[in-house]
Amino acid sequence: MRSSATRRSPSGEPRLTAVAEAPGKVIITGEHFVVHGALALAAAIGQRTRAEASRAPGLVVETPLARSAPGGTGQLPVHRLVREMYRMRSAEPRVRVTITSELPAGSGLGSSASAMVATAAAVSGLEGWPTDPPSIIEAAMFGERLVHGRPSGIDVAVSAAGGVLQFRVGEPPRPLELAGPLRLLVVQSGERRSSKRLISKVSSTKGAHPHLFAGLCDSASLITELATERLLGGRLRDLGRIMTYNHAVLATVGASNERLDRLVDLCLECGCYGAKLTGAGGGGSVLALPAEGAEEATAALLARRGVRSFLSEVPSGGVRVWTSEGR
Ligand code: PMV
Repeated sequence: MRSSATRRSPSGEPRLTAVAEAPGKVIITGEHFVVHGALALAAAIGQRTRAEASRAPGLVVETPLARSAPGGTGQLPVHRLVREMYRMRSAEPRVRVTITSELPAGSGLGSSASAMVATAAAVSGLEGWPTDPPSIIEAAMFGERLVHGRPSGIDVAVSAAGGVLQFRVGEPPRPLELAGPLRLLVVQSGERRSSKRLISKVSSTKGAHPHLFAGLCDSASLITELATERLLGGRLRDLGRIMTYNHAVLATVGASNERLDRLVDLCLECGCYGAKLTGAGGGGSVLALPAEGAEEATAALLARRGVRSFLSEVPSGGVRVWTSEGR
């Protein structure tokens, strides 16, 4: 979606700014195994990352975590993404990118992918380069590889397209039409961790037990097929059970920890239909499916037990980019 607005700076000089917003995501089933070819189910959430791109004498990237400027180390993955976008077009980057996000970093909600997608879209919007989802996905994947090492691409695909998707590496994502919106509870463990480290930890179990791991990959695909069927049919109790089962499978390959297991138990105790770690695990977030009509009450119950959570309605839209003049 595109829109534009014209504003003037006090000096009267028009200055073009391209703005892009891209959502985070939750993985409903199939994380980790998706990296190894399994089918996964994911949805875009309302929390977003915003990137603003405007002209500058050189390349400057400002994020909530760090600032990278000409003469600085230039090691931020997002900085390297922007440099690569210009290098591919044999152009010099003369752009300032400012990133702000509603997504907690390192929490399994696709914060890095949404930053890459928003940045790729804002820079493309500023330069008049294509901003269609395939072009944005291709650029953003360059940045995601720097962060994750070997990402499946699910985070970037969901952030770019929005909605609810079935995803398998090497195949076009399959968008799903829900009968109505679904309210999910994102429970925060408060433990920040590196997706890259978790991906390599889980992948090492594949190296140690390749046949067993292949069986788990097949079962992850089956879990996703079943979850999709229950989701589309509105059979939320069953969907919840499948999510909880998926958590147990993820725990067997080392993606969970004591705190996440405890949080899943607590969500079930508080009446959720199901709960599981979401994203890379090892900390980050638990995704819970509250009973219909009891969403706020469940969040309040968790809060009384000292657990931080927020409700997120899915599906949410994908990346949006627009330009404005002036400032
Ligand atoms: O924790 P996040 O938001 O980085 O999600 C990682 C999801 C994985 O399946 C573990 C990796 C991937 O690229 O699919």
